[in-house]
Amino acid sequence: MNTELDKAKLELEEVGYLKLETPSTVDFVEEIKRLKKEKNAVILAHYYQEPEIQEIADYVGDSLGLSQKAANVEADIIVFAGVHFMAETAKILNPEKKVLLPDLKAGCSLAESCSAEDLAEFKKKYPEHVVVTYVNASAGVKAHSDLVCTSSNAKKIIDSIPEDQPIIFAPDKNLGAFINKETGRDMVLWDGACVVHEAFSLDKLVELHLEHPDAKIIAHPESEAHILKVADYIGSTSGMINFVKTDDSQKYIVGTEAGILHEMKKEAPGKELIPVPVEEDNTCACSECGYMKMNTMQKLYLCMKYELPEVNVDEEVRKKALIPIEKMLEISAR
Ligand code: 13P
Ligand code: SF4
Repeated sequence: MNTELDKAKLELEEVGYLKLETPSTVDFVEEIKRLKKEKNAVILAHYYQEPEIQEIADYVGDSLGLSQKAANVEADIIVFAGVHFMAETAKILNPEKKVLLPDLKAGCSLAESCSAEDLAEFKKKYPEHVVVTYVNASAGVKAHSDLVCTSSNAKKIIDSIPEDQPIIFAPDKNLGAFINKETGRDMVLWDGACVVHEAFSLDKLVELHLEHPDAKIIAHPESEAHILKVADYIGSTSGMINFVKTDDSQKYIVGTEAGILHEMKKEAPGKELIPVPVEEDNTCACSECGYMKMNTMQKLYLCMKYELPEVNVDEEVRKKALIPIEKMLEISAR
């Protein structure tokens, strides 16, 4: 092995991220800022990332905001501080740019629940149906879809489809059931779920609300129906932040991944935010996405330094997946 880069590539094959030694003297914040300038890179981060990653990002947002931002990036390199399907979406929109993800194993239980092959097989049972796919899915699944949506535009996307047109909705059964209820449709739902939002405990939520009867309950639509039923507001991560910012209550029980609290506190200083407890958690009362939290400042630094790991999408798949994503962006802009 002769170069540092060869060593990095070998490591990447083994573990999916770079774990090269970084001297304790490296100031990640300063180095990441320097690398951003030197390489003309932009960092896009999701609200579930560690606070320090959100702080150093050029843009922090929900899945829709991140896709919209990715569609208009001018930088040469997009560093995605999020999970794999998000980086893939950025690559689908920017085939000529380098898209980096600090940890290639940062996946998503929803994306993993639905393979392109299984969806193609499933579609055969419903030849009259169109397929709407939640953005939390692989490029291969998107390539088999007619439309893509995120949690913030799902209703708008479904409403854009004629009422008599039957729909398959994949892969989130909870978001799908919520949209069925909102729109009065009867979409066929893929049986996938988010491990983080499915872990919320209704009993503990009720207990918590008894302790804080003045708190409003806000929840992400990836949560199960029994949680959504007791929520005062249901929306995407951006929607939830905006609700807390503009609503006149002072206390909220927050039903989504705990990373959102960082931006929420900034946007609504002085308000009390209480995370929804999870089923098996008797200590910390908060819920974290293990995939999102695979990204660290050290991995972000290494990925920018070596421009690895890179996310690539097969060109045939990319072209097909681009169609429903562009349709989504166009409908969202209406
Ligand atoms: P949004 O940020 O679009 O609401 O999605 C939440 C999520 O789970 C992303 O994986
Ligand atoms: Fe996937 Fe859930 Fe994690 Fe979002 S929070 S990335 S939906 S596992």
